Formats: sequence, structure tokens, C-alpha cells
Amino acid sequence: MINQLAKYINFPVRGDERGSLIALESNQDVPFDIQRVYYIFATKENVSRGYHAHKALKQVAICVKGSCRFVLDDGVERQEFYLDTCTGGILIESMVWREMHDFSDDCVLLVLASEHYDESDYIRNYDEFLSLANKA
Ligand code: TYD
Repeated sequence: MINQLAKYINFPVRGDERGSLIALESNQDVPFDIQRVYYIFATKENVSRGYHAHKALKQVAICVKGSCRFVLDDGVERQEFYLDTCTGGILIESMVWREMHDFSDDCVLLVLASEHYDESDYIRNYDEFLSLANKA
């Protein structure tokens, strides 16, 4: 599944009689240098997260357990992605507004990021995002 907002990446599963294993390497399975890994879990009921874009950061989001729903928005178009498998993830480019909703109780959302944490890279105001996105 490929579109303007995000690309869905299916990861190679290395399975054998014992079960399955996925290995993700920078610039191979993930199209950037992985500088940071974080994960979101124990999200309370009815909580939504995100509501920001990044100026430069690229991310791959993988729901390694449970499920959640992403809303992605490039300033022109909005699209939803339902994540419920650990065998693939969405590549979110820079300058994409993201919201995450409907976290299952057991959801563990793993995120691979192209940069170290930098609050100055965030755009947390939607109107500011729209004006920057439409200038880009
Ligand atoms: P934030 O990115 O706003 O979370 P979300 O988009 O999922 O709602 O981050 C929440 C808090 O955690 C915020 O205070 C910044 C901090 N944080 C870090 O310190 N390092 C990180 O790598 C991330 C992603 C967040």
C-alpha cells in the first residue's frame, strides 16, 4: 500500500520451527539511520495521542502488540491507517500531521526515529502546520 502520506512497509519474517523473528536494519528495512527507538504502551482508555508534525523527523511506527488507528494529514489530504500486526509498519515522512486513536488495552506501539529527540522539531499547532505545509 503506497500513497502520498505514508508508505506501508512489510517486514521480512524469519520463521523457523521455533517461531518468528523480524530484524530491522537502518537503511535496509527502514529507509533512514535509526537514531532513536521509543514505544508507547499502557495508553488509558479513550486517550488519543500525537497531534503534531515534525519539520525533519521521519519515523516508522509498528504496532508490535494490540492495535491502534493513525490519522495522517499532509495539509491537503487526511488518511487513516489501522495498525494491528507486528509484521509491518508505516513510514511517516516529515511534515505529516499525525494523530493516534483507539489504542487497545494491550497496544505496544514501537517507533523507530531518524533523529534524536528534539522538541524544536515539533509543530504542535495545527494552523501553523497548515501554513508551513502549504508553503513547502
Ligand atoms: P510526545 O511526542 O508529545 O508524545 P505523543 O506524540 O505520543 O503524544 O511526547 C510525550 C512526552 O515524552 C513529551 O514530554 C516529550 C517526551 N519524549 C521524550 O522525552 N523523548 C522522546 O523520544 C519522545 C517521543 C517523547
